[in-house]
Amino acid sequence: MTLTKQKLSQFAIDVRDGLSHFPKSLSSKYFYDAIGDKLFQKIMDLEEYYLTRSEFEVFETHKDKILSLISPNHERFRLVELGAGDGTKTKVLLEHFLKVHYEFTYSPIDISGDVLHHLEIALKEELPKVKVEPIQGDYFKALKELSYVHDCKEVVLFLGSNIGNFSKESGVGFLKHIGDYLESGDILLTGFDLMKDPAKILAAYGDKEGVTRDFNLNLLRRMNEELGANFDLSTFQHFPTYDPITGETKSHLISTVDQSVYIEELDETFHFNEWEAIHTEVSHKYSYKMIEEFAEAAGFKILAHLTDSKGNFVDSVWEKV
Ligand code: AVJ
Repeated sequence: MTLTKQKLSQFAIDVRDGLSHFPKSLSSKYFYDAIGDKLFQKIMDLEEYYLTRSEFEVFETHKDKILSLISPNHERFRLVELGAGDGTKTKVLLEHFLKVHYEFTYSPIDISGDVLHHLEIALKEELPKVKVEPIQGDYFKALKELSYVHDCKEVVLFLGSNIGNFSKESGVGFLKHIGDYLESGDILLTGFDLMKDPAKILAAYGDKEGVTRDFNLNLLRRMNEELGANFDLSTFQHFPTYDPITGETKSHLISTVDQSVYIEELDETFHFNEWEAIHTEVSHKYSYKMIEEFAEAAGFKILAHLTDSKGNFVDSVWEKV
């Protein structure tokens, strides 16, 4: 490296690692730039993408039950949401908590300052009585910041099956890590997408309109834009798979031709054989048994499993032991 070369971004370093190994991989956390955020919003509205609607139904149906689980004696609490996004689902709860006069503050955490800003403005307008204390940063940094003040019951929301982006092992590790910041009696509510008809899962990750394809290809577009790569997007195919044994749903980008791609920021060329795949995302599906094992391993007691009428999705409410 020459002395004038600037320090590589984390994105560049992760791309170099991911494309240098076999099998090639890229992290799904890089989906979410401004364009990726918009595409994910579009995904949530898709006919085939049942997850968001299912969890919304869980909240609509069980908001009373949720409240009685997280604050059985009307105690004051802080609602912390990891990866808040646009907060559409959470608003159902916030509105209900206000209506029945519970005392709480809402701390949405998101990696995107832009997303948080929009959420804050929307809440000020729609639910002005909610006390909002947003925290910008990745989960780890934000949890650490939160742990400095712990003057009431903590209720952590980890919704939308965001947990699904972790491998099974690192998912347990992450839930354990959340637990490290909590005290006995605090609550963790996690949304898990359940194992179901494989055709339904594959449709959700390979929609007819091709929005999920574009979402996946956005990784390559982002590398072109931010790292000076020369990916030809038309030579990569989006391909989702589902393993009904493990519950792993994976997204791939497959090179349809033998080709080389140059990445300026890395000053390096990467070769793709014809039909070679890049693994870009895991969206884990779960059985109740797996969820019970998770809770046990992470040091929580399960208080309730709340599900939608079709049994697509479960919000699992846990108490720190
Ligand atoms: C935001 C991680 C829950 O895995 O279902 C949607 C992201 N990927 N379609 C998911 C996603 C492809 C989503 N999560």
